Amino acid sequence: MSRLIHFCHFLVNSDYFVGNIRAMSQFDFQTLEDLLAGTPTEPRHLLPFLQRTQEKFRHLPREALLAAAAHFSLPASRVFAVASFYKAFSLVPKGERLIAVCQGTACHLRGGPQVAASLEKRLGLKIGQTSADGRYGLESVNCLGACALAPVATVDGAVRGHLTPGRAAELL
Ligand code: FES
Repeated sequence: MSRLIHFCHFLVNSDYFVGNIRAMSQFDFQTLEDLLAGTPTEPRHLLPFLQRTQEKFRHLPREALLAAAAHFSLPASRVFAVASFYKAFSLVPKGERLIAVCQGTACHLRGGPQVAASLEKRLGLKIGQTSADGRYGLESVNCLGACALAPVATVDGAVRGHLTPGRAAELL
């Protein structure tokens, strides 16, 4: 384990994070180390690093953000600010299957809210939530540029169109 990862391990196991010790002990430090190993230390590589980390962990764990601060020699506050600024990033784990319902005008007028309500009911979730077992995440997005197919949603990034509340089940 590199000195950097060792340092982060120490940080996240300090009293400051004592409430999350169990979760931290399960953290995959090896994957984080692999991600950092392939990343130059210039700050301009922070965003690509965060993108790869988001893909790997389905969110940006605080261990990764602290490691990034040390790796890029940036204040942790700046790394956390970047991580929380972009909607593409999440500080909490997203579902394995991510369903995003379009809330743009065309979709809204053609039944998007009813599709969203149907999904919320079937999953027992509200927009913005992830199921307790981590299988599903439900989100909203603005216009996807596929208005001719309205109402639309994406499933893991793939666009599905002409949805109805009944057809919403096909997305699961
Ligand atoms: S408004 Fe939904 S794709 Fe354009």
